[in-house]
Amino acid sequence: MRILILSLLIAAPAIAAPKPAVPHPGAEVYQNVCQACHMANAMGAVGAGRITALARNPNLQYPEYPISVVTGGKGAMPWFRGQLTDQEIADVIDYVRGNFGNRYNKGPGGKVTAAMVAESGVAAPTRGER
Ligand code: HEC
Repeated sequence: MRILILSLLIAAPAIAAPKPAVPHPGAEVYQNVCQACHMANAMGAVGAGRITALARNPNLQYPEYPISVVTGGKGAMPWFRGQLTDQEIADVIDYVRGNFGNRYNKGPGGKVTAAMVAESGVAAPTRGER
């Protein structure tokens, strides 16, 4: 009995405090920046304008298109080159390509890196250009 109690005491902290899952770095960017328009479930919205759903979106299959939209903006979507770092842009694109029913981060293009964002996409707008 004493051994049982002792082993429960030793095991208890391991049960009580499961190792926290490391959150994807792009999740925070998504929640702080993208969610306001694209919604927490990435389903987008139709209201004053149409906000494209990112959930189950085949346009995210290859990294080039989302990199170009996020760096350069599109329609009512603002551009983020210069507002977010290349790393933050890479992280958030990797996050949406691998969540909300998308599994493209395991497919062609794989993980989106800061180097890919730096090398492709749309350059930062210069003052007066837009
Ligand atoms: C101010 C609102 C707003 C914010 C903030 C915003 N978006 Fe968008 N986003 C839009 C709108 C509107 C569109 C549709 C643009 C169009 O096609 O004309 C769009 C389109 C997109 C597309 C293209 C989808 C497709 O299938 O064509 C991607 C990818 C995207 N957004 C990702 C993001 C990410 C990642 C963030 C955060 C860094 C973000 N957006 C932040 C409004 C927003």
